[in-house]
Amino acid sequence: MKTRKLSNLEVSAVGYGCMGLSMGYGSVPERSESIRLIRQAYDWGCTFFDTAQLYGDGDNEILVGEALQPIRDNIVLASKFLVATTEQTSTREGLLEAIQSRVDASLKRLGTDHIDLYYQHRMNKDIPVEDIAWCMGILIREGKILGWGQSESTEEEIRRAHAVTPITAIQSQYSIMERMYEKDVIPTCEELGIGFVAFSPLGNGFLSGKYTADTTYTGLDARRVITRFSKENVLANQPLLDVLTDFAHQKGATPAQIALAWMLHKKDFIVPIPGSRTPERVQENLDAADVELTDAEFNQIGAELAKIEIYGNRTDEDIAKLRNMR
Ligand SMILES: NC(=O)c1ccc[n+]([C@@H]2O[C@H](COP(=O)([O-])OP(=O)(O)OC[C@H]3O[C@@H](n4cnc5c(N)ncnc54)[C@H](OP(=O)(O)O)[C@@H]3O)[C@@H](O)[C@H]2O)c1
Repeated sequence: MKTRKLSNLEVSAVGYGCMGLSMGYGSVPERSESIRLIRQAYDWGCTFFDTAQLYGDGDNEILVGEALQPIRDNIVLASKFLVATTEQTSTREGLLEAIQSRVDASLKRLGTDHIDLYYQHRMNKDIPVEDIAWCMGILIREGKILGWGQSESTEEEIRRAHAVTPITAIQSQYSIMERMYEKDVIPTCEELGIGFVAFSPLGNGFLSGKYTADTTYTGLDARRVITRFSKENVLANQPLLDVLTDFAHQKGATPAQIALAWMLHKKDFIVPIPGSRTPERVQENLDAADVELTDAEFNQIGAELAKIEIYGNRTDEDIAKLRNMR
């Protein structure tokens, strides 16, 4: 597997997002199957694994930690924390204590003595990004984390935080169908030498072309509420799948692989972390690292995309609606 640099961290060009093994897409595999899957991903060349305190309320960290235990020193482990506004977080010292307790709990669940990349999962408008960055600097000095990042932050938040404690990577939603960060965040990462990790790089699976307007989703599956999966939007976005399918045929690849190869070609500091619960798809996604687009092919895809309008999206607000649909 080719590797890439997220600032000073070297990771496989395609990582593995482990969220779906605990939540997000309805049913989850048997625990032993999930552990096997994570280890298989490593055998297929993946050295970058993504989890979070939030996924399965800590269960995902326990699972990922156990699966990676035999290979811990060979991989880059990323996790995330959330910090809500409380009286404790109103002072820097209190905020530090709150974050210390989160990282300590994550380290315990993960069964490791350090997290390689620790992201603030969502920005909190009541807590200055500078204060979070200051806390991250302390965690780095203590050796609890090697680097840090933000998720879904703005250009301004990135610049302000980076000035206090240099950021390793930003993790935000990015795919051939969701390009909002191309305008400011990705150029800022390039300018500041920060890596960019793309979550939902397959548009929650839409870009694989394996889901149709008639596919139904049940239980706690985000695709029930993500608007890019509404029947009319799936139909309206068919031209995008046609472009991916055409290129897939030309390149002897799959549409999902073309979608990932497209962003790998875009910038050498972008690393997608697709997630899947089946071995075939995990392997398919990791193999996208070997699908190389030429500049001409990349430009041709760009020209095709320019003619296409994208319908629907994936937002936190929509996903929150799932809570009331149990
Ligand atoms: N920072 C954040 O706020 C944030 C938010 C969301 C996610 N993440 C991270 O990013 C990772 C990836 O995000 P995501 O799950 O939204 O990404 P994604 O890879 O775009 O979508 C995953 C979905 O696509 C399906 N899929 C994946 N590969 C496929 C393939 N080759 N063919 C057909 N279907 C395929 C999966 O279904 P099957 O499982 O059935 O294959 C799953 O339903 C997560 O695991 C998590 O670690 C971070």
